[in-house]
Amino acid sequence: MGKGFYISRSAGRVGLLLGAAAAVTIVALAIVYAQEKSRNAAADDGGGVNGTTAPAFTPTPMASNDSWDQYRLPDTLRPEYYNLTLWPRLHMGQDGMYIFTGSSSAVFTCVKETDLILIHSKMLNLTTIDGHLARLTAVGLATAPAVEATWLQMETQYLVIQLSGVMTVGGSYQLDTEFQGELADDLEGFYRSEYVEDGVKRVVATTQMQPTDARKAFPCFDEPAMKAVFHVTLIHEPGTVALSNGMEKDTVNTTIEGTDVTVTSFEPTKRMSTYVLAFIVCDFAYVSAPKGSDNILIRIWARRKAIEQGQGEYAHNVTGPILKFYESYFNVTYPLSKSDQIALPDFNAGAMENWGLVTYRETALLYDPQFSSNGNKERVLTVISHELAHMWFGNLVTLRWWNDLWLNEGFASYVEYLGANHAEPTWNIKDTIVLNDVHRVFAVDALNSSHPLSSREDEINMPTDISQLFDSISYSKGASVLRMLSEFLSEPVFVKGLSTYLNQFAYSNTVYTDLWDHLQQAVDSTPSLSLPHSVNDIMNRWILQMGFPVVTIDTSTGELSQNHFLLDSESVVEKASEFNYEWYIPITWKKAGVGQEPFWLLQKTDTHSPLTATRNEWVLANLNITGYYRVNYDSDNWERLLNQLNSDHQLIPVINRAQIVDDTFNLARAKILNITLALRTTVYLSHERELMPWESAIDNLSHFFLLFDRSEVYGPMQTYFKKLITPLFSYFQRITLNWTRVPSSHTDQYNQVNAIWLACKTGLDSCQDLTKGWFKQWMQDPANNPIHPNLRTTVYCSAIAAGGAEEWDFGWEMFKNASIASEADKLRYALACSKQPWLLNRYLKYTLDPTKIRKQDVTSTIVHIARNVVGQTLAWDFVRARWESFLTQYGGSSFSFAHLISGVTKRFSSRFELQQLQQFMKDNENIGFGSGAFALEQSIASTTAKLKWLAENKETVLSWFISQSK
Ligand SMILES: *[C@@H]1O[C@H](CO)[C@@H](O)[C@H](O)[C@H]1NC(C)=O
Ligand SMILES: *[C@@H]1O[C@H](CO)[C@@H](O)[C@H](O)[C@H]1NC(C)=O
Ligand SMILES: *[C@@H]1O[C@H](CO)[C@@H](O)[C@H](O)[C@H]1NC(C)=O
Ligand SMILES: *[C@@H]1O[C@H](CO)[C@@H](O)[C@H](O)[C@H]1NC(C)=O
Ligand SMILES: [Zn+2]
Repeated sequence: MGKGFYISRSAGRVGLLLGAAAAVTIVALAIVYAQEKSRNAAADDGGGVNGTTAPAFTPTPMASNDSWDQYRLPDTLRPEYYNLTLWPRLHMGQDGMYIFTGSSSAVFTCVKETDLILIHSKMLNLTTIDGHLARLTAVGLATAPAVEATWLQMETQYLVIQLSGVMTVGGSYQLDTEFQGELADDLEGFYRSEYVEDGVKRVVATTQMQPTDARKAFPCFDEPAMKAVFHVTLIHEPGTVALSNGMEKDTVNTTIEGTDVTVTSFEPTKRMSTYVLAFIVCDFAYVSAPKGSDNILIRIWARRKAIEQGQGEYAHNVTGPILKFYESYFNVTYPLSKSDQIALPDFNAGAMENWGLVTYRETALLYDPQFSSNGNKERVLTVISHELAHMWFGNLVTLRWWNDLWLNEGFASYVEYLGANHAEPTWNIKDTIVLNDVHRVFAVDALNSSHPLSSREDEINMPTDISQLFDSISYSKGASVLRMLSEFLSEPVFVKGLSTYLNQFAYSNTVYTDLWDHLQQAVDSTPSLSLPHSVNDIMNRWILQMGFPVVTIDTSTGELSQNHFLLDSESVVEKASEFNYEWYIPITWKKAGVGQEPFWLLQKTDTHSPLTATRNEWVLANLNITGYYRVNYDSDNWERLLNQLNSDHQLIPVINRAQIVDDTFNLARAKILNITLALRTTVYLSHERELMPWESAIDNLSHFFLLFDRSEVYGPMQTYFKKLITPLFSYFQRITLNWTRVPSSHTDQYNQVNAIWLACKTGLDSCQDLTKGWFKQWMQDPANNPIHPNLRTTVYCSAIAAGGAEEWDFGWEMFKNASIASEADKLRYALACSKQPWLLNRYLKYTLDPTKIRKQDVTSTIVHIARNVVGQTLAWDFVRARWESFLTQYGGSSFSFAHLISGVTKRFSSRFELQQLQQFMKDNENIGFGSGAFALEQSIASTTAKLKWLAENKETVLSWFISQSK
C-alpha cells in the first residue's frame, strides 16, 4: 500500500510543525488501527510518523482442530482462474441500501486429496444453487463428488463446502457461486465513494482489497500465494466507465432484468494475487497520451472537473519516465499493456498498487499549480513512484505471506526515491530519505517497545495481525536497511541480484531469503567485492532483532564499540535477541575530509580499527547516513568537528551536517552526551543555507519549544533562535527579491518555509509584518489570494496567531468555502494558531459539530490546538471533561484515541501534569480508553522521563541560552 498509509511524507517534512496535510493520513491510520484493540503507541510528531510500534501478536484463538477454524487455508487446492461478473448499483435501493450482485466460477486443481473446500467469503449474501451455497462441477475428465453441506464460518471468513467424497489429485474442478453484497461507504472490499459535482451527487463503486477484503467482493482463495488468472466482467449503467486490472476488451449495451446496462469485459489478467485486484465503476474522465514506442497505455483518471482543470497533468507527465526507469533498473519490461491510475474522493490508504489500476487519494495523485504547494507536488511524485515500484516488486513477484510485508513495503519505500529522482533530477530527492525515513523511524525504533522487521509466518494469522504490520517499522526501517544493503553491495551488484530474483520468480511467490540468495549469487560473481559474512548473516542481525546500534569511536586509540541505542536510558529491554543486540556494521568514514576504505565492526568492541586521528584531524563516520546507526565520538573529535562546522561547514557533507545535529540531540536525550554539546552544533546554522541541516535542527528544536515554552527558559531561547534564523530569513528575502519570486530550487522552496516559520515564531518583526500584510491583502480581496501555495500553511498560521477575531473569522469563512482538500487542511490547521483563548475554546466546541468539522478531522484539530501553547490546557480540559462521551460516540469507529491522547499530552513535563494524567487514568478506569490505552501508558512514561531529564538539564540549558544571547 502507499506509504501515505502511515505517513504523509511532505507533511512530515516541512509540516513537522506545520503539518496540515498530515491530518488526512492520521485518519487513514485511524481506520485501520480501529481494528486493533490496544497497543497504539502513537509517538506522533506533529503529523509525522505514527508511532505504532508494537504489534501485539496474540495467539490465534482456535475453537477446534477443524480446518475451517484455522485462519490459514489448507494446502489442498490451487486456484487456476476465475470467471467473475460483478454488477454494482450506483443508486440506492428501496430498502435504503446500495448493493452489488455477482457471480463467480473459481476453477482450481486438487493438489492433495480432500473432501472439503474452504474458500474465503466475508459479508456476502450467497444465493442457493441446487439447494446449496455453491455448486461444484468437474472440469475435463474428473467427476465431481456431490456437495453434502455448505455453510459460512464467520470467524475465519470461510464458505465451507463439505463433499460426499474426495476430489482426486490432479483433477480440475469448478466452483460456482452467486451472491449479493452491500456497496457500503466503509472503504473496504467493494465499496462506494460519493462526491458532488455541479450540485449533483455522484457515486463511484471502487475497491480496496489489501490485505484481506477481496473476499468481501466475491468468494475467493484470498491469500497472496493463491495466484490465479481473473476473467472479469462488469455490468454498469450506460454512460459510466468500468475499469479493472486488465484492458477493456469488449463493451456491449443490452438489457438485463428490464434494465438498460453496459457490459464491459476485460482482457484476462496475468497470474496474480487477489489483494491487487481492482474493480471500478464511475463517470470519471482521463488524460492520456498517444502510446509511446513501448506501447504502454498510460491514463490518469479523476473527477471530470479535476481533469478539466488539468490536475492530472503532472501525474501523467511523470508516470512514463518512472515506468521507464524501473524497466531499466529491474531489467524487466513492464509486464502489462496499460497503466491506469485513478484519484478517488474517499480512500483509506494513501494509495494502493492494484496491478494495472492503481488507486489514490486525490491529494496523492492530483496536482493543481494554483492551490498545491511544492510539498503537495512532491507527495504526488513519490507516491506514484512507490506504487509503480510495486508493479514489479510485490505484484509480479509476491511475498508468500504477510509476515514478509516489510520487504514488500520497505523495498518500495526505498526505490521510490530512485524513481522520483529520475523524474525530477534537480530536486535532490534521494537525500531526503534520511529525514523522511531514517531519522523518523530512529525515533520509534529506539524505544524498548519496538519490534523486529521480520515476523515468523505462524505469528501472523488473523486479519488484525496483518493490519498491524503496516507501520513505520515495515516501511521506513525496511527502506533504511535496504538502502544500507544496496550501498554496501554497491548499486550494480544490488540490481543484478534483484533482476535475477524478479526473473526467476515472476508470477509466483517468495520468502525474503530468496532475495538474499539472489543477492549472494550476485556477490559471488563479483570478485572485486568482499564481504566479511554472507548477505544472509549480515542482514539477519538487522531484520530479526529490533532497534539499532550507536557506534562509539575513540579516535585517539581507534577503539570502536557498539551498543543498542535506547532513547530512554532507563528503559529495560525485555525481549531477548539471539544476536544479543549486536550488529554487523558497515562503517564508511572520512578523515580530515578525505574518504577512507570502509570498515566492518563485527563485534561488540574492536580495539584495532583504523579510525584514528591526530591533533588537527577530524574523523567522520557513517557518510551520508547510509548505515542504519548513530555515531558518538570521543570529546576531542567532537570538538574538532564543531570547529570545522564553525570555520568552514562545507567540508562536512551536507547530509552529515544534518546527522551531527540529530545524533547529538538524541544522544543527549539518551543521557549519553551533555546537552550543551548538542546545542553547540546549532551555532553554525547562522551560516547554513541548506535544507537538510535546518530540517534536522528544527526537528530537534521543536522538542525544545514543547519542553520550554511555558518556562523561564523561553525568553533566552527565543532570543537565541531569533538570532540564528535572521540570516536565513534575510537570505530568502534577498534571493526572492523581497518575497516576489519563488526560489528556483526545490529544497530552497522548503527551506524558505522554515525561515518564515521560525522567524515569525521567534517574533522577528519583519517576518510578522510580512505575513500580516499578505493576510490583510487577502482579506480585502478574498477572490485573489496573494500568498503562494508553498507558504500558505505557515503564513496563515502566523497571521492568525498575530490577529484577533476578525482574522480568525475570515479564515473560518475561507475554510468553509475551500473547494480543494489541501487548501481546507491548511486553513483548518492555521485556525488552531490563534492566541485568543476564547477563539480556541469556540474552535474546540466546533469539533463536536460534524457540520462544522468533519468527523475524520476531529482528532487532528484538537491535537493542533493542543500544539499551541495557549491551547494546550484548553484542549486537555476539553478532552478529559468529555472522555466518556468521546468513547461512547466514537468507540469502535475510525476515531483514533491513541493519537488524541498522545497529541494532547505531548507537552506534558511537570509533576503536576503527571498527577493529572494519573488521575485521568484512575477516573476513567471503568469506562476505559479505547484504542488509546497504550498511548496513555506511553504518555505517563514519557512525562516521567521528561521530568527527570529536566531536573538534570534545565539549568544547564537555561544558562547556555543566556550565554548565547549576550
Ligand atoms: C521498557 O522499559 C520500562 C522501564 O523503563 C519497563 O517498565 C518496560 O516493561 C519495558 N518494556 C518492554 C516492552 O521491554
Ligand atoms: C553523499 O551524498 C551526496 C549528495 O547526494 C553525493 O554527492 C555523494 O557522492 C555521497 N557520498 C557518498 C560517499 O556516498
Ligand atoms: C553539562 O555540562 C555543563 C557545563 O558545560 C555542566 O554544568 C552540566 O552539569 C553538565 N550536565 C550533565 C548532566 O552532566
Ligand atoms: C527590498 O525592500 C527594501 C526596503 O523595503 C529595499 O531597500 C530594497 O531595495 C528592496 N530590494 C529589491 C530587490 O527590491
Ligand atoms: Zn507500498
